Amino acid sequence: MSDGSSFYITTPIFYVNDVPHIGHAYTEVAADVLARWHRQAGDPTWFLTGTDEHGQKILRTATANGVSPKEWADRLVETAWQPLLKTINISNDDFIRTTDERHEVNVQLFLQRLFDAGYIYTGEYEGFYCVGCEEYKQPSDLVDGTGQYEGQQVCAIHSKPVELLQERNYFFRMSDFTQPLLDLYEANPTFIQPESVRNEIVSFVKQGLTDLSISRQTFDWGIKVPWDDTHVVYVWFDALLNYITAAGYGYDDEKFEKLWPATHIVGKDIARFHAVIWPAMLMAAGLDVPKQVFGHGWLLVGGEKMSKSKLTGIAPNQITDTFGSDAFRYYFMSAINFGQDGSFSWEDLSARYQAELANGFGNLASRVIAMVNRYFDGEIPDPGISEGADERVRTVERRVVDDADEAISRLAIHEALSSIWELVDELNGYITAQEPWALAKKPELQDRLKTVLFTAIRGLGTLAVLLSPVVPDAAAKLWTALGGVGDITDVALRTAYHWETDGKVWPLEPLFPRIETIEGGDGPGSQSAPDAPAPAPAPGTPAASAPSTPAAADSNRGPESRDAATKAPAVHAVAPDAS
Ligand code: MSP
Repeated sequence: MSDGSSFYITTPIFYVNDVPHIGHAYTEVAADVLARWHRQAGDPTWFLTGTDEHGQKILRTATANGVSPKEWADRLVETAWQPLLKTINISNDDFIRTTDERHEVNVQLFLQRLFDAGYIYTGEYEGFYCVGCEEYKQPSDLVDGTGQYEGQQVCAIHSKPVELLQERNYFFRMSDFTQPLLDLYEANPTFIQPESVRNEIVSFVKQGLTDLSISRQTFDWGIKVPWDDTHVVYVWFDALLNYITAAGYGYDDEKFEKLWPATHIVGKDIARFHAVIWPAMLMAAGLDVPKQVFGHGWLLVGGEKMSKSKLTGIAPNQITDTFGSDAFRYYFMSAINFGQDGSFSWEDLSARYQAELANGFGNLASRVIAMVNRYFDGEIPDPGISEGADERVRTVERRVVDDADEAISRLAIHEALSSIWELVDELNGYITAQEPWALAKKPELQDRLKTVLFTAIRGLGTLAVLLSPVVPDAAAKLWTALGGVGDITDVALRTAYHWETDGKVWPLEPLFPRIETIEGGDGPGSQSAPDAPAPAPAPGTPAASAPSTPAAADSNRGPESRDAATKAPAVHAVAPDAS
């Protein structure tokens, strides 16, 4: 069966009823960082993302907009979901749409196999359905409505009323898999991560699973049930299968064996579908279950899950237009513990951009390169005799490579970044302590100056390689400035410190230009916000001594007001400081 040798990673496929917000982009970036990391480490890697286009939710939106659901899906994919991948620099290997023929045909094949194996029967169902979730809800999933829904029971996630449905449908014998799933969770304790999501799912399954209604008869926007075309396949049953239909299931056995099983990155709200229904479906079909299901936390606004339907969605380009895609990627990966919820705020983003990216990393790179240009005409000097401080930098360099890789193997992206930032801080401290600008004034200390700048350049190259999966554009610019040999994405990540240069540096524009906040936002002149951090010191001058380690995510941060979070401050990038 599957050899499982590849690192096959997936995002959920996104509903095309609306345009993406930063919560969706967060999932994409996390999966992309993991994919880029493994690819650069030399692991055979495949990264899949895509769109979920069937079901009642899409049908209703399309109808309300006066177009067919397929026209609507095409429009959204082309104008919103595909462009998102460019906006945040996603390196997916494939993009599946559930309206692709490769998907539709093989969903039918899968279903027919389950039917032939006796896992499907006809039954009646009556229950409350949430179109937002595309899911039948138990009474315990409902809460009292407020505002216009006062007096009604609403879905706890969407805060909208559920609909009472009564249908004659096809059912999947999911109850058969209660014990096999519990056995799976026990035999493979990291199958569901993080621990909080695992615990919730294990206790849910322990209550015993009921069979699952897997077809709908009252509308026709979906894949036809192969033996009864009066039914369409339930949208989640259809959607989950994307992970194998994209990987060759039913039409390319060789590809499928190489890729499957996958690691699924999903939001915690949909972890149950992935860690319960999906492995049960696969077990019934005699296929391997996924390698792992990781349920990340939510981006919160005003203490609630950011969502378009609650009008709290922030479009990713609201951030990237000002801060750039690298800053977007870095911010969400470092500021939030992957696996926990996190609040987004413009103030936090600005502060971290300035402290960690502009001052901590970008300014370090500019200063070191400027000094090699100034003192050695751009030639990277050969080192003299090493001292303890130089050795220490080298030791930290090696340690953080191992620590970051170990963290990534646990999908602890924020920990990997914390480790990498130890090297940023170490190098900043080293430059401050060694004062190369003072060494440069004393001809008898030339050898020492050479050693210090050589050591700093080595550290910077290692940083560029390690940060390439997170801030690919900045890392590539730094790589060019360091005279890095070849494409940075080809440099083996697990031995990043062996990177090679052709021996000459080139001028480097600031990697993260200063961003200025305009108070009020409508005045003709701009001024820095009163609490804006100090601008980055010019290259070649001592660094601000405060360490720039990303603070651990503060998921208990007080809920900021919705307005404060969703309204972008008026900001613009200002001309880079002369260097
Ligand atoms: N179509 C289904 C997934 C099918 S996968 C076989 C779906 N789509 S979705 O567009 O509603 O959500 C996609 C992902 O975005 C989910 O993982 C969800 O958790 C994530 N997010 C949506 N809002 C989010 C936040 N506010 N914060 C973090 N992630 C968020 O569900």
